[in-house]
Amino acid sequence: MLNLPLFDKQKEIRADFSRTADVVLYQGDANDFVKTIPDDSVRLIVTSPPYNLGKEYEDRVSIKTYLETQSELIKQLYRVLAPNGSLCWQVGNFVDRGEVYPLDILYYDLFKHNDFFLRNRIIWHFGHGLHASKRFSGRYETIWWFTKSDDYVFNLDAVRVPSKYPGKRHFKGPNIGKPSGNPNGKNPSDVWQVVLKDWEAELWDIPNVKANHPEKTIHPCQYPVELVERCVLALTREEDWVFDPYAGVGTSMLAALMHNRRAMGSEKESEYVAFARERIHALWNGTLTTRPVGKPVFVPTGKERVAQIPEEWKTDKPKMRLEKKRKYK
Ligand SMILES: C[S@@+](CC[C@H](N)C(=O)[O-])C[C@H]1O[C@@H](n2cnc3c(N)ncnc32)[C@H](O)[C@@H]1O
Repeated sequence: MLNLPLFDKQKEIRADFSRTADVVLYQGDANDFVKTIPDDSVRLIVTSPPYNLGKEYEDRVSIKTYLETQSELIKQLYRVLAPNGSLCWQVGNFVDRGEVYPLDILYYDLFKHNDFFLRNRIIWHFGHGLHASKRFSGRYETIWWFTKSDDYVFNLDAVRVPSKYPGKRHFKGPNIGKPSGNPNGKNPSDVWQVVLKDWEAELWDIPNVKANHPEKTIHPCQYPVELVERCVLALTREEDWVFDPYAGVGTSMLAALMHNRRAMGSEKESEYVAFARERIHALWNGTLTTRPVGKPVFVPTGKERVAQIPEEWKTDKPKMRLEKKRKYK
């Protein structure tokens, strides 16, 4: 059940920054929009920037040019971030003729030069994606969590996950015999397993499993609401501003609004802005479908047709595989 007391008043999406607004969605360049935001006003900046991959919304440039452009924006993001605020930067790799450039590592200096403090390099692990043939298939991206100072909002209790062994007890010391864990669950750690794109999971043959992720829109690089929800819950308080400079179809804004935070985003493509608006209205109308937080990642039972070894691959000859037990002398 959604609790949206912030929106007891008239719900409105403003097109430009206003101190009294609850939702701002700007269509245009993030570099222009950010200049309209006051200093120290945003508790969380969370985004997935363009990766310079030549997607339909970007012109591919040299990495140097790409990073120089980002550097200008990052300076501004530091300015608008509240002194106890956080920035979460979600990126993958830039790939050029098969060579991988880890964008997060290239970005690190930019953040460090702008006085950000790194708190975690979170691994976002997913089980599906393109299969590489000349290198190992990529199955994670990263979220770099930076703060503006040493004094920052961090609500660990809001994002605890169930412990694997809640029944564990201290076996020595003054608390011997007492439960050793936390009754609210454990710290989710810096490896997050959220499905990247269920719609890429090759599950189309399985009865009752939809081909499409419930959140899928026309955007080629959408991230799941669930991923941002964890950042919002851990790093902000109710009614705080959450800002996504590269808002896409509004995923970060939805995660903020779902938890009674104020949401701000800039996006240059009008088509994505229209989708973002539609999704926000769907949230307000109660018709938005999202993948629920903490929903277990689908694990095949082995009975599904796609989980079985094709007849034509079956052979009596033993295969040389690493998992096959070998005898060592
Ligand atoms: C990786 S996508 C973000 C998708 C988003 N996380 C979502 O779930 O919808 C990056 C977005 O940045 C937008 N973009 C690229 N350059 C921009 C700029 N200078 N100003 C505003 N938006 C920009 C692109 O159109 C694209 O939608």
